[in-house]
Amino acid sequence: MTELLIRGGTVYTPDGPRQADVHVTDGVITRVEPRLAANGKAVDATGMYVLPGAVDVHVHSRDPGFTEKEDFGTLTAAAAAGGVTTVVDMPNTVPAVDSAGVLESKAAMAHSKARVDFGLWGLLRSGTTPEQLEDMAAAGAVGFKAYLAYSFSLSRKQVLYSPGVEDPDLEAPADYGTLARLAPVVAQLGLPLAIHAEDPTVLAAFRRPLLTYDDLLESRPPDAEAVAVSAAAAVARESGVHLHIAHLSSALGLQAAEDAMQVGTSMSLETCPQFLLLTSQDFDRVGTAMKMLPPIRTAADRDALVDGLRRGVISIVSTDHAPHTDEEKSQDFERAPAGSPGVQTLYLSCLQLAKDLGDVWRAPRWASQAPAELVGLGEHKGAIAPGFDADIVIVDPRGKTSVQAEHMRSRQRHAALAGKEFDFEVKEVFLRGEPVTRGSRTRGRMVRPAMVAG
Ligand code: DOR
Ligand code: ZN
Repeated sequence: MTELLIRGGTVYTPDGPRQADVHVTDGVITRVEPRLAANGKAVDATGMYVLPGAVDVHVHSRDPGFTEKEDFGTLTAAAAAGGVTTVVDMPNTVPAVDSAGVLESKAAMAHSKARVDFGLWGLLRSGTTPEQLEDMAAAGAVGFKAYLAYSFSLSRKQVLYSPGVEDPDLEAPADYGTLARLAPVVAQLGLPLAIHAEDPTVLAAFRRPLLTYDDLLESRPPDAEAVAVSAAAAVARESGVHLHIAHLSSALGLQAAEDAMQVGTSMSLETCPQFLLLTSQDFDRVGTAMKMLPPIRTAADRDALVDGLRRGVISIVSTDHAPHTDEEKSQDFERAPAGSPGVQTLYLSCLQLAKDLGDVWRAPRWASQAPAELVGLGEHKGAIAPGFDADIVIVDPRGKTSVQAEHMRSRQRHAALAGKEFDFEVKEVFLRGEPVTRGSRTRGRMVRPAMVAG
């Protein structure tokens, strides 16, 4: 029996923050009470926050397929360094995760490299059959992702970027008919359906060469997000499927989502630290590290998203950690691919935003509890409570962290949030009771949703 006691900190429990000690036996939290006695290892957390490990439901490991950008080892090392103890990987790796066989081999590969726990999304696209979804669910998919517009890479050749415009044929995306056809199947499986919400017909109307940041903004208008959110909600509503909106980026998109929720659509909204902490004005300082899709938009969009988070309409903050090589990103604006690493700064970003909104204890809800619930892990992850996995992050609320390239543990060094200063520091991270530090042998496991119906 391995025991661990984390003493003297302020602990995030399901009933809110409490002064308590946390007792762990064999990787599981057993007691959360004041003044517990230590039998084994004890860690002093006096003056510290004791938080549940973050669950980032939106990362791109690039593994298999593009391991020069990232792999499961480097992804999860970056995650661990930032207090993210579960990552959920998107299916646009190569081969695309569109069958149980691909999912199983990706899981075995990831298991051999992961430093933190991981889950896998399956891909839902126009040719997908109900059987494929059922088989992926049985193989442990946490849910399914549908790309309504171009996104990076579903085959090797798609890494080739034509200068100026994104090729609309780069990926076989899902369409609304596909969502309507398959939403009942996903609903029956009891899993969430996540969408990349940009409407391809709106994008087609605004396509242009991308010479400047303004071109990027004009080529991906918020209308594209709003139309996709509304249409996906309309076709999904009857099925009762839970619709998850990935990387919400605009005020208009948020409004469309709120309208759909008002009429009873089961929906969750995710946004990302970069949409909450940056605006298009930062481009001159940051450069192509902040080129991503959808784009980082105006101050009004940022304010609307922060307000959505404050009101609880947006419940999840995940990163869309999407590395490309530093060389690729240092090309001119037109050629630099969209996407950047971000998993390492998820928790610090959330703590800072929550502090700035006047209640730091919202951060573990956005970064850990709500995302854990989305992917069916809410009984084991997302809180510090008896019976939960001892995925624990000790944060110093008087520490300071400045986001610097040399501290990045991703395979890449660029970061949209480079130069940001946070009033917090991640001190120690435990995965199922074991410290995950540089050089430790702690291994991640695949997580599966608890409740799969049917
Ligand atoms: O900027 C992006 N990069 N947006 C996406 O939707 C995909 C991602 C990637 O995989 O590079
Ligand atoms: Zn993504």
